[in-house]
Amino acid sequence: MQVVDRIALLRKELDAARAAGRVVGLVPTMGYLHEGRASLVRRAAAECKVVAVTVFVNPLQFGAGEDLEGYPRDLERDTALAAGAGAGIVFTPPVEEMYPEPVATAVHVAGVSEGMEGDSRPSHFDGVATVVAKLFAIAGPCRAYFGEKDFQQLVVVRRMARDLSFPVEVIGCATVREPDGLALSSRNVYLGPDERRAAAVLHRALVRGAALVEGGERGRDTVLRRIVATIAGEPLAELDYAEVVAADDLRPVDPLRGDVRLLVAARIGKARLIDNVGVSC
Ligand code: PAJ
Repeated sequence: MQVVDRIALLRKELDAARAAGRVVGLVPTMGYLHEGRASLVRRAAAECKVVAVTVFVNPLQFGAGEDLEGYPRDLERDTALAAGAGAGIVFTPPVEEMYPEPVATAVHVAGVSEGMEGDSRPSHFDGVATVVAKLFAIAGPCRAYFGEKDFQQLVVVRRMARDLSFPVEVIGCATVREPDGLALSSRNVYLGPDERRAAAVLHRALVRGAALVEGGERGRDTVLRRIVATIAGEPLAELDYAEVVAADDLRPVDPLRGDVRLLVAARIGKARLIDNVGVSC
């Protein structure tokens, strides 16, 4: 396992791997790996000969009220976890290496970055798209793995890669969950015991909505009402948004057809949690 903190060195290593005929896998993260983030590394290692995990807490994607300084970091643990999951390289550039001067260029992905998380976190997806474009430019031709947990982010990244012709295949990976359905997230540590029990309502609401569709329901509002009512039944949860959209462009669909995505965001205590599930009809 190699820990690399310079752009030029990562490029050199990945160019050499490709020259030797090896497929390169890229797993962008902000570190503090948990089983959900680590699952992407395992999947990449199963499908690619060389896997680079990037650990970079990207200042561009943090809003004014968001705690960039307080973002949890543990590079030693991340390096060990990444190696255990099959990574050959961990790329941990300091901020000065990624942004040696104030960034004048921003990548904005219109449409899919608006609404939902884009509404609650203005400029967040510009920060994500900009850093991911940079990572793609540094890594070169590869397969890049992103979690469906952050579904809107996955769609934004996929669209950005296609629009800008990056030689990168963007691969979405299933959400890793606790036994009661709660999606693994670094934010789950903010939940007290009662809140932790309440948090399972997000997934429960989505599963109920998806079950309606599987049972033949095609009315978007009916499905939305089921999701909203399920969350309203949990007094500790405060709904931020619920959405039922087409999986590829995140536009509302009514009547439902094709690949549909059900998404929610809710506050539980201090934590703001997001989750989503897919259903096809
Ligand atoms: P981060 O929050 O560290 O997440 C890294 C990757 O892990 C993302 O692709 C995310 O969707 C995935 N992930 C998180 N929880 C998961 C779970 N329970 N199951 C499956 N995958 C999960 O997302 C980011 O970093 C950043 O925005 C980044 C893309 C690295 C750009 O800075």
